[in-house]
Amino acid sequence: MIDPQSLAARFPRNFTFGVATAAFQIEGAARADGRKASIWDAFCNMPGRVHNRDNGDVACDHYNRLDEDLDLIKELGVEAYRFSIAWPRIVPDGTGPINEAGLDFYDRLVDGCKARGIKTFATLYHWDLPLALMGDGGWTSRSTAIAFQRYARTVMARLGDRLDSVATLNEPWCIIWLSHLYGIHAPGEKNMEAALHALHHLNLAHGLAVEAIRSEAPHVPVGLVLNAASVIPETQSSADKAAAERAHEFHNGAFFDPVFKGEYPEHFLAALGPRMPVIEDGDLAIINAKLDWWGLNYYTPMRVADDAEKPGDFPWTKAAPPVSEVKTDIGWEVFPGGLSHVIEDLYRRYELPPCYITENGACYNMEVVDGAVDDTPRLAYYADHLSVVADLIGKNYPIKGYFAWSLMDNFEWAEGYRMRFGLVHVDYATQKRTVKKSGLWYAELASARDQPTVRPAVSAS
Ligand code: FCB
Repeated sequence: MIDPQSLAARFPRNFTFGVATAAFQIEGAARADGRKASIWDAFCNMPGRVHNRDNGDVACDHYNRLDEDLDLIKELGVEAYRFSIAWPRIVPDGTGPINEAGLDFYDRLVDGCKARGIKTFATLYHWDLPLALMGDGGWTSRSTAIAFQRYARTVMARLGDRLDSVATLNEPWCIIWLSHLYGIHAPGEKNMEAALHALHHLNLAHGLAVEAIRSEAPHVPVGLVLNAASVIPETQSSADKAAAERAHEFHNGAFFDPVFKGEYPEHFLAALGPRMPVIEDGDLAIINAKLDWWGLNYYTPMRVADDAEKPGDFPWTKAAPPVSEVKTDIGWEVFPGGLSHVIEDLYRRYELPPCYITENGACYNMEVVDGAVDDTPRLAYYADHLSVVADLIGKNYPIKGYFAWSLMDNFEWAEGYRMRFGLVHVDYATQKRTVKKSGLWYAELASARDQPTVRPAVSAS
Protein backbone atom coordinates (compact mmCIF):
# COMPACT_ATOMS: atom_id res chain seq x y z
CA MET A 1 0.00 0.00 0.00
CA ILE A 2 1.41 3.38 -1.00
CA ASP A 3 2.14 5.51 2.02
CA PRO A 4 -0.13 8.57 1.74
CA GLN A 5 2.46 10.82 3.37
CA SER A 6 5.14 10.16 0.77
CA LEU A 7 2.62 10.43 -2.08
CA ALA A 8 1.38 13.76 -0.66
CA ALA A 9 4.95 15.04 -0.59
CA ARG A 10 5.06 14.77 -4.39
CA PHE A 11 2.40 17.48 -4.82
CA PRO A 12 2.95 21.24 -4.65
CA ARG A 13 1.74 23.04 -1.56
CA ASN A 14 -1.08 24.81 -3.37
CA PHE A 15 -2.45 21.65 -5.02
CA THR A 16 -6.14 21.14 -4.22
CA PHE A 17 -7.45 17.78 -3.05
CA GLY A 18 -11.22 17.44 -3.13
CA VAL A 19 -14.18 15.12 -3.43
CA ALA A 20 -16.97 15.23 -6.02
CA THR A 21 -20.68 14.42 -6.25
CA ALA A 22 -23.63 15.38 -8.48
CA ALA A 23 -27.09 16.57 -7.50
CA PHE A 24 -29.25 13.86 -9.05
CA GLN A 25 -26.99 11.10 -7.77
CA ILE A 26 -27.15 12.06 -4.08
CA GLU A 27 -29.85 14.60 -3.23
CA GLY A 28 -33.13 12.68 -3.31
CA ALA A 29 -36.04 14.89 -2.18
CA ALA A 30 -37.15 14.80 -5.79
CA ARG A 31 -40.42 16.59 -5.15
CA ALA A 32 -39.39 18.82 -2.25
CA ASP A 33 -39.66 22.60 -2.13
CA GLY A 34 -40.82 23.14 -5.67
CA ARG A 35 -38.44 20.85 -7.59
CA LYS A 36 -40.04 19.38 -10.68
CA ALA A 37 -39.04 16.35 -12.75
CA SER A 38 -35.86 16.15 -14.81
CA ILE A 39 -35.27 13.90 -17.80
CA TRP A 40 -33.59 11.48 -15.40
CA ASP A 41 -36.72 11.18 -13.23
CA ALA A 42 -38.66 10.26 -16.35
CA PHE A 43 -35.98 7.88 -17.62
CA CYS A 44 -35.91 6.03 -14.28
CA ASN A 45 -39.67 5.52 -14.52
CA MET A 46 -39.42 3.79 -17.89
CA PRO A 47 -38.99 0.02 -17.69
CA GLY A 48 -35.72 -1.34 -18.99
CA ARG A 49 -33.70 1.86 -18.72
CA VAL A 50 -32.13 1.76 -15.27
CA HIS A 51 -31.03 -1.36 -13.43
CA ASN A 52 -33.73 -2.52 -11.01
CA ARG A 53 -35.79 0.53 -12.01
CA ASP A 54 -33.89 2.42 -9.32
CA ASN A 55 -34.56 6.15 -9.21
CA GLY A 56 -33.42 9.38 -7.60
CA ASP A 57 -36.42 9.89 -5.30
CA VAL A 58 -34.38 9.30 -2.13
CA ALA A 59 -30.83 8.56 -3.33
CA CYS A 60 -28.47 9.39 -0.42
CA ASP A 61 -31.09 11.72 1.09
CA HIS A 62 -28.40 14.37 0.96
CA TYR A 63 -30.99 17.16 0.64
CA ASN A 64 -32.14 16.35 4.17
CA ARG A 65 -28.71 15.43 5.54
CA LEU A 66 -26.75 18.36 4.24
CA ASP A 67 -24.98 19.30 7.47
CA GLU A 68 -24.06 15.73 8.34
CA ASP A 69 -22.58 15.27 4.85
CA LEU A 70 -20.64 18.53 4.95
CA ASP A 71 -19.24 17.41 8.30
CA LEU A 72 -18.16 14.20 6.59
CA ILE A 73 -16.29 16.17 3.92
CA LYS A 74 -14.64 18.18 6.65
CA GLU A 75 -13.62 14.97 8.45
CA LEU A 76 -11.98 13.73 5.27
CA GLY A 77 -9.70 16.74 5.55
CA VAL A 78 -10.06 17.77 1.91
CA GLU A 79 -9.84 21.35 0.82
CA ALA A 80 -12.59 21.47 -1.80
CA TYR A 81 -16.00 20.07 -2.66
CA ARG A 82 -17.21 19.68 -6.26
CA PHE A 83 -21.02 19.47 -6.36
CA SER A 84 -23.64 20.18 -8.99
CA ILE A 85 -26.66 22.44 -8.90
CA ALA A 86 -29.99 21.00 -9.98
CA TRP A 87 -31.55 23.11 -12.70
CA PRO A 88 -35.03 21.64 -11.94
CA ARG A 89 -34.79 23.02 -8.39
CA ILE A 90 -33.90 26.52 -9.58
CA VAL A 91 -36.08 26.87 -12.70
CA PRO A 92 -38.43 23.88 -12.35
CA ASP A 93 -39.90 24.19 -15.86
CA GLY A 94 -36.58 25.07 -17.47
CA THR A 95 -37.93 28.48 -18.39
CA GLY A 96 -40.38 30.68 -16.52
CA PRO A 97 -40.62 31.14 -12.76
CA ILE A 98 -37.55 30.93 -10.55
CA ASN A 99 -37.92 28.82 -7.43
CA GLU A 100 -36.39 30.67 -4.50
CA ALA A 101 -36.59 27.59 -2.26
CA GLY A 102 -34.26 25.79 -4.65
CA LEU A 103 -31.73 28.61 -4.49
CA ASP A 104 -32.02 28.58 -0.69
CA PHE A 105 -30.79 24.99 -0.57
CA TYR A 106 -27.60 25.83 -2.46
CA ASP A 107 -27.18 28.96 -0.34
CA ARG A 108 -27.10 26.69 2.70
CA LEU A 109 -24.74 24.30 0.94
CA VAL A 110 -22.30 27.03 -0.02
CA ASP A 111 -22.48 28.74 3.36
CA GLY A 112 -22.06 25.36 5.05
CA CYS A 113 -18.86 24.77 3.06
CA LYS A 114 -17.55 28.25 3.84
CA ALA A 115 -18.25 27.79 7.55
CA ARG A 116 -16.16 24.62 7.46
CA GLY A 117 -13.35 26.14 5.39
CA ILE A 118 -14.16 24.04 2.32
CA LYS A 119 -13.79 25.55 -1.16
CA THR A 120 -16.83 25.39 -3.43
CA PHE A 121 -16.51 24.06 -6.99
CA ALA A 122 -20.00 24.18 -8.53
CA THR A 123 -21.09 22.51 -11.76
CA LEU A 124 -24.19 24.03 -13.33
CA TYR A 125 -25.28 21.02 -15.36
CA HIS A 126 -24.70 17.40 -14.42
CA TRP A 127 -27.42 15.87 -16.62
CA ASP A 128 -30.68 16.74 -14.85
CA LEU A 129 -32.37 18.70 -17.64
CA PRO A 130 -35.82 20.01 -16.59
CA LEU A 131 -38.26 17.55 -18.16
CA ALA A 132 -40.51 20.36 -19.41
CA LEU A 133 -37.79 21.38 -21.88
CA MET A 134 -38.23 18.06 -23.70
CA GLY A 135 -41.47 19.55 -25.03
CA ASP A 136 -39.29 21.73 -27.24
CA GLY A 137 -36.85 18.93 -28.06
CA GLY A 138 -34.48 19.18 -25.08
CA TRP A 139 -30.85 19.71 -26.10
CA THR A 140 -31.70 19.20 -29.77
CA SER A 141 -33.37 22.61 -29.64
CA ARG A 142 -31.51 25.92 -29.74
CA SER A 143 -33.98 27.35 -27.22
CA THR A 144 -32.52 25.05 -24.54
CA ALA A 145 -29.17 26.82 -24.88
CA ILE A 146 -30.92 30.14 -24.27
CA ALA A 147 -32.76 28.71 -21.27
CA PHE A 148 -29.46 27.43 -19.88
CA GLN A 149 -27.90 30.86 -20.15
CA ARG A 150 -30.70 32.37 -18.08
CA TYR A 151 -30.42 29.60 -15.49
CA ALA A 152 -26.66 30.17 -15.29
CA ARG A 153 -27.21 33.90 -14.77
CA THR A 154 -29.77 33.21 -12.04
CA VAL A 155 -27.44 30.90 -10.13
CA MET A 156 -24.46 33.21 -10.38
CA ALA A 157 -26.47 36.24 -9.28
CA ARG A 158 -27.33 34.41 -6.07
CA LEU A 159 -24.22 32.30 -5.34
CA GLY A 160 -21.46 33.95 -7.35
CA ASP A 161 -20.16 35.94 -4.40
CA ARG A 162 -19.26 32.73 -2.56
CA LEU A 163 -18.17 30.27 -5.25
CA ASP A 164 -14.49 29.48 -5.66
CA SER A 165 -15.00 28.01 -9.10
CA VAL A 166 -17.74 27.17 -11.55
CA ALA A 167 -18.07 24.71 -14.43
CA THR A 168 -20.77 25.05 -17.05
CA LEU A 169 -21.26 21.40 -18.04
CA ASN A 170 -20.21 17.98 -16.87
CA GLU A 171 -19.11 15.58 -19.62
CA PRO A 172 -20.58 16.76 -22.92
CA TRP A 173 -19.59 13.36 -24.39
CA CYS A 174 -22.13 11.64 -22.16
CA ILE A 175 -24.79 14.29 -22.76
CA ILE A 176 -24.41 13.91 -26.52
CA TRP A 177 -23.17 10.50 -27.64
CA LEU A 178 -24.18 8.37 -24.65
CA SER A 179 -27.60 10.00 -24.31
CA HIS A 180 -28.61 10.86 -27.90
CA LEU A 181 -26.75 8.32 -30.06
CA TYR A 182 -26.13 5.21 -27.95
CA GLY A 183 -29.40 5.53 -25.99
CA ILE A 184 -27.86 4.50 -22.65
CA HIS A 185 -28.54 7.70 -20.70
CA ALA A 186 -31.54 10.02 -20.62
CA PRO A 187 -33.30 10.90 -22.85
CA GLY A 188 -32.37 7.52 -24.38
CA GLU A 189 -32.30 8.74 -27.97
CA LYS A 190 -30.50 6.71 -30.67
CA ASN A 191 -30.33 9.02 -33.58
CA MET A 192 -27.39 10.76 -35.26
CA GLU A 193 -29.42 13.82 -36.33
CA ALA A 194 -30.66 14.31 -32.79
CA ALA A 195 -27.15 13.88 -31.44
CA LEU A 196 -25.64 16.38 -33.89
CA HIS A 197 -28.30 18.97 -33.12
CA ALA A 198 -27.80 18.45 -29.40
CA LEU A 199 -24.03 18.71 -29.93
CA HIS A 200 -24.06 22.19 -31.39
CA HIS A 201 -26.72 23.50 -29.04
CA LEU A 202 -24.90 22.12 -26.01
CA ASN A 203 -21.63 23.71 -27.13
CA LEU A 204 -23.52 26.95 -27.64
CA ALA A 205 -25.13 26.62 -24.19
CA HIS A 206 -21.64 26.34 -22.71
CA GLY A 207 -20.49 29.53 -24.45
CA LEU A 208 -23.63 31.46 -23.54
CA ALA A 209 -23.28 30.36 -19.93
CA VAL A 210 -19.67 31.55 -19.86
CA GLU A 211 -20.93 34.99 -20.95
CA ALA A 212 -23.60 34.99 -18.24
CA ILE A 213 -21.15 33.87 -15.54
CA ARG A 214 -18.63 36.53 -16.50
CA SER A 215 -21.24 39.27 -16.46
CA GLU A 216 -22.71 38.26 -13.08
CA ALA A 217 -19.60 37.09 -11.26
CA PRO A 218 -16.45 38.07 -13.16
CA HIS A 219 -14.12 37.01 -10.35
CA VAL A 220 -15.21 33.34 -10.35
CA PRO A 221 -12.89 31.16 -12.46
CA VAL A 222 -14.99 29.41 -15.09
CA GLY A 223 -14.30 26.09 -16.76
CA LEU A 224 -15.77 23.10 -18.55
CA VAL A 225 -15.52 19.48 -17.41
CA LEU A 226 -14.82 16.94 -20.16
CA ASN A 227 -14.45 13.19 -20.01
CA ALA A 228 -11.92 13.27 -22.82
CA ALA A 229 -11.32 9.84 -24.25
CA SER A 230 -7.80 8.52 -23.88
CA VAL A 231 -7.81 7.05 -27.37
CA ILE A 232 -5.24 4.29 -27.86
CA PRO A 233 -4.96 2.42 -31.19
CA GLU A 234 -4.86 -1.38 -30.94
CA THR A 235 -1.77 -1.61 -33.13
CA GLN A 236 0.65 0.81 -34.72
CA SER A 237 -0.65 -0.06 -38.22
CA SER A 238 -1.48 2.99 -40.30
CA ALA A 239 -5.13 1.86 -40.47
CA ASP A 240 -5.42 1.70 -36.67
CA LYS A 241 -3.59 4.98 -36.22
CA ALA A 242 -5.94 6.68 -38.69
CA ALA A 243 -8.88 5.11 -36.83
CA ALA A 244 -7.56 6.59 -33.58
CA GLU A 245 -7.40 10.03 -35.21
CA ARG A 246 -11.00 9.72 -36.36
CA ALA A 247 -11.99 8.54 -32.89
CA HIS A 248 -10.25 11.57 -31.43
CA GLU A 249 -12.22 13.91 -33.69
CA PHE A 250 -15.50 12.24 -32.87
CA HIS A 251 -15.13 11.65 -29.13
CA ASN A 252 -12.95 14.64 -28.19
CA GLY A 253 -12.67 17.04 -31.11
CA ALA A 254 -16.44 17.58 -31.42
CA PHE A 255 -16.16 19.38 -28.05
CA PHE A 256 -12.53 20.50 -27.73
CA ASP A 257 -12.21 21.99 -31.23
CA PRO A 258 -15.14 24.43 -31.00
CA VAL A 259 -14.32 25.36 -27.40
CA PHE A 260 -10.55 25.72 -27.75
CA LYS A 261 -10.15 26.51 -31.48
CA GLY A 262 -13.50 27.95 -32.54
CA GLU A 263 -14.21 25.34 -35.23
CA TYR A 264 -15.49 21.79 -35.68
CA PRO A 265 -12.91 19.13 -36.64
CA GLU A 266 -12.22 18.73 -40.33
CA HIS A 267 -13.04 15.08 -41.06
CA PHE A 268 -15.90 15.06 -38.59
CA LEU A 269 -17.39 18.06 -40.35
CA ALA A 270 -16.87 16.59 -43.81
CA ALA A 271 -18.68 13.40 -42.79
CA LEU A 272 -21.41 14.73 -40.51
CA GLY A 273 -21.58 18.49 -41.10
CA PRO A 274 -24.49 18.30 -43.57
CA ARG A 275 -26.61 16.74 -40.83
CA MET A 276 -25.78 19.39 -38.23
CA PRO A 277 -28.16 22.23 -37.40
CA VAL A 278 -27.57 25.75 -38.68
CA ILE A 279 -24.44 27.19 -37.11
CA GLU A 280 -25.38 30.86 -36.88
CA ASP A 281 -22.90 33.67 -37.38
CA GLY A 282 -21.17 34.34 -34.13
CA ASP A 283 -21.94 30.94 -32.54
CA LEU A 284 -18.39 29.66 -32.79
CA ALA A 285 -16.96 32.86 -31.32
CA ILE A 286 -19.31 32.49 -28.33
CA ILE A 287 -18.34 28.84 -27.87
CA ASN A 288 -14.65 29.71 -28.19
CA ALA A 289 -14.65 32.06 -25.15
CA LYS A 290 -11.36 31.77 -23.27
CA LEU A 291 -11.68 29.62 -20.15
CA ASP A 292 -9.86 29.95 -16.83
CA TRP A 293 -9.51 26.19 -16.44
CA TRP A 294 -10.78 22.90 -17.77
CA GLY A 295 -11.60 19.69 -15.95
CA LEU A 296 -10.71 16.15 -16.96
CA ASN A 297 -12.75 13.19 -15.79
CA TYR A 298 -10.74 10.02 -16.34
CA TYR A 299 -11.56 6.41 -15.48
CA THR A 300 -10.38 4.06 -18.24
CA PRO A 301 -8.83 4.21 -21.71
CA MET A 302 -10.67 3.92 -25.03
CA ARG A 303 -8.91 1.30 -27.18
CA VAL A 304 -9.87 1.37 -30.83
CA ALA A 305 -9.13 -0.43 -34.08
CA ASP A 306 -10.02 0.36 -37.66
CA ASP A 307 -13.28 -1.06 -38.91
CA ALA A 308 -12.36 -1.83 -42.51
CA GLU A 309 -16.00 -2.36 -43.50
CA LYS A 310 -16.73 1.29 -42.56
CA PRO A 311 -20.27 0.50 -41.39
CA GLY A 312 -22.73 3.28 -40.57
CA ASP A 313 -21.43 6.70 -39.62
CA PHE A 314 -18.06 8.29 -38.94
CA PRO A 315 -15.74 7.45 -37.13
CA TRP A 316 -15.76 3.81 -38.40
CA THR A 317 -13.86 2.28 -35.53
CA LYS A 318 -14.41 -0.77 -33.38
CA ALA A 319 -13.52 -1.40 -29.77
CA ALA A 320 -10.17 -3.12 -29.23
CA PRO A 321 -9.61 -5.46 -26.28
CA PRO A 322 -8.16 -4.26 -22.97
CA VAL A 323 -4.46 -4.65 -22.37
CA SER A 324 -4.57 -4.88 -18.59
CA GLU A 325 -6.40 -7.79 -17.01
CA VAL A 326 -7.33 -5.67 -14.03
CA LYS A 327 -10.91 -4.42 -14.14
CA THR A 328 -13.12 -2.64 -11.63
CA ASP A 329 -16.51 -4.11 -10.67
CA ILE A 330 -18.23 -2.11 -13.42
CA GLY A 331 -15.95 -3.82 -15.95
CA TRP A 332 -13.71 -0.87 -16.80
CA GLU A 333 -10.05 -1.61 -17.53
CA VAL A 334 -7.65 -0.20 -14.95
CA PHE A 335 -4.88 1.57 -16.84
CA PRO A 336 -3.26 4.59 -15.12
CA GLY A 337 -1.12 5.16 -18.23
CA GLY A 338 -4.30 6.27 -20.00
CA LEU A 339 -4.38 9.34 -17.78
CA SER A 340 -0.92 10.55 -18.77
CA HIS A 341 -1.61 9.59 -22.39
CA VAL A 342 -4.72 11.78 -22.64
CA ILE A 343 -3.21 14.78 -20.83
CA GLU A 344 -0.08 14.72 -22.98
CA ASP A 345 -2.10 14.24 -26.15
CA LEU A 346 -4.53 17.09 -25.42
CA TYR A 347 -1.86 19.61 -24.40
CA ARG A 348 -0.03 18.74 -27.63
CA ARG A 349 -3.14 19.36 -29.74
CA TYR A 350 -4.68 22.39 -28.02
CA GLU A 351 -3.74 25.55 -26.17
CA LEU A 352 -5.37 24.59 -22.92
CA PRO A 353 -5.64 26.54 -19.69
CA PRO A 354 -4.73 24.90 -16.34
CA CYS A 355 -6.44 21.63 -15.56
CA TYR A 356 -8.18 20.04 -12.62
CA ILE A 357 -8.75 16.32 -12.52
CA THR A 358 -12.42 16.80 -11.70
CA GLU A 359 -13.22 13.07 -11.43
CA ASN A 360 -11.22 9.91 -11.04
CA GLY A 361 -12.10 6.84 -9.05
CA ALA A 362 -13.11 3.22 -9.14
CA CYS A 363 -16.18 1.04 -8.74
CA TYR A 364 -15.80 -1.70 -6.15
CA ASN A 365 -18.85 -3.03 -4.39
CA MET A 366 -17.46 -4.22 -1.06
CA GLU A 367 -19.93 -4.07 1.80
CA VAL A 368 -19.55 -3.23 5.47
CA VAL A 369 -18.08 -6.06 7.55
CA ASP A 370 -17.77 -5.54 11.31
CA GLY A 371 -18.22 -1.80 10.89
CA ALA A 372 -15.51 -1.40 8.24
CA VAL A 373 -15.19 -1.58 4.45
CA ASP A 374 -11.97 -3.11 3.15
CA ASP A 375 -11.77 -1.74 -0.40
CA THR A 376 -8.04 -2.14 -0.92
CA PRO A 377 -8.35 -2.29 -4.75
CA ARG A 378 -9.95 1.19 -4.76
CA LEU A 379 -7.15 2.50 -2.60
CA ALA A 380 -4.62 1.03 -5.03
CA TYR A 381 -6.46 2.62 -7.96
CA TYR A 382 -6.28 6.04 -6.31
CA ALA A 383 -2.64 5.63 -5.37
CA ASP A 384 -1.62 4.59 -8.89
CA HIS A 385 -3.56 7.35 -10.63
CA LEU A 386 -2.43 10.05 -8.20
CA SER A 387 1.11 8.95 -8.78
CA VAL A 388 0.58 9.57 -12.50
CA VAL A 389 -0.78 13.04 -11.68
CA ALA A 390 2.36 13.74 -9.63
CA ASP A 391 4.52 12.59 -12.58
CA LEU A 392 2.63 14.93 -14.93
CA ILE A 393 3.12 17.87 -12.58
CA GLY A 394 6.79 16.92 -12.50
CA LYS A 395 6.77 17.30 -16.30
CA ASN A 396 5.25 20.78 -15.89
CA TYR A 397 1.69 20.04 -16.95
CA PRO A 398 -0.43 22.66 -15.15
CA ILE A 399 -2.61 20.38 -13.04
CA LYS A 400 -4.00 22.34 -10.11
CA GLY A 401 -6.14 19.86 -8.25
CA TYR A 402 -7.75 16.44 -8.02
CA PHE A 403 -11.29 15.43 -7.02
CA ALA A 404 -12.06 11.87 -6.04
CA TRP A 405 -15.25 10.43 -7.51
CA SER A 406 -17.01 10.10 -5.27
CA LEU A 407 -17.50 11.34 -1.74
CA MET A 408 -20.02 8.56 -1.19
CA ASP A 409 -21.79 5.69 -2.95
CA ASN A 410 -24.68 7.03 -5.00
CA PHE A 411 -27.08 6.56 -7.91
CA GLU A 412 -24.82 5.38 -10.71
CA TRP A 413 -27.13 6.36 -13.60
CA ALA A 414 -28.19 3.39 -15.77
CA GLU A 415 -26.55 1.03 -13.25
CA GLY A 416 -28.75 2.25 -10.41
CA TYR A 417 -27.44 1.72 -6.88
CA ARG A 418 -25.64 -1.55 -7.54
CA MET A 419 -22.37 0.12 -8.62
CA ARG A 420 -20.49 1.85 -5.80
CA PHE A 421 -17.84 4.54 -6.32
CA GLY A 422 -17.74 6.12 -2.85
CA LEU A 423 -14.90 6.78 -0.45
CA VAL A 424 -17.77 6.48 2.01
CA HIS A 425 -20.17 3.55 2.01
CA VAL A 426 -23.90 4.30 2.06
CA ASP A 427 -26.38 1.79 3.47
CA TYR A 428 -29.44 2.80 1.45
CA ALA A 429 -31.87 1.17 3.90
CA THR A 430 -30.67 3.20 6.89
CA GLN A 431 -28.69 6.00 5.16
CA LYS A 432 -25.79 5.17 7.46
CA ARG A 433 -22.44 6.42 6.15
CA THR A 434 -19.26 4.41 6.83
CA VAL A 435 -15.89 5.74 5.74
CA LYS A 436 -14.13 3.01 3.73
CA LYS A 437 -10.47 2.07 3.99
CA SER A 438 -9.87 4.14 0.82
CA GLY A 439 -11.59 7.12 2.46
CA LEU A 440 -9.36 6.90 5.52
CA TRP A 441 -6.34 6.69 3.22
CA TYR A 442 -7.47 9.67 1.12
CA ALA A 443 -8.07 11.67 4.31
CA GLU A 444 -4.49 10.95 5.40
CA LEU A 445 -3.20 12.02 2.01
CA ALA A 446 -5.22 15.25 1.97
CA SER A 447 -4.29 16.19 5.52
CA ALA A 448 -0.65 15.18 5.17
CA ARG A 449 0.02 18.18 3.02
CA ASP A 450 1.02 21.51 4.46
CA GLN A 451 -1.87 23.89 4.29
CA PRO A 452 -1.26 26.53 1.60
CA THR A 453 0.22 29.68 3.04
CA VAL A 454 -1.85 32.83 2.77
CA ARG A 455 0.11 35.50 0.95
CA PRO A 456 0.02 38.93 2.58
CA ALA A 457 -1.88 41.45 0.48
CA VAL A 458 0.46 43.64 -1.50
CA SER A 459 -0.47 47.27 -1.21
CA ALA A 460 -0.59 49.33 -4.37
CA SER A 461 1.44 52.22 -2.98
C1 FCB B 1 -18.92 9.96 -14.75
C2 FCB B 1 -20.02 10.86 -14.22
C3 FCB B 1 -20.30 10.69 -12.77
C4 FCB B 1 -20.20 9.24 -12.33
C5 FCB B 1 -18.92 8.62 -12.82
C6 FCB B 1 -18.73 7.19 -12.38
O1 FCB B 1 -19.10 9.76 -16.10
O2 FCB B 1 -19.70 12.22 -14.43
O3 FCB B 1 -21.56 11.25 -12.50
O4 FCB B 1 -21.32 8.54 -12.68
O5 FCB B 1 -18.87 8.70 -14.21
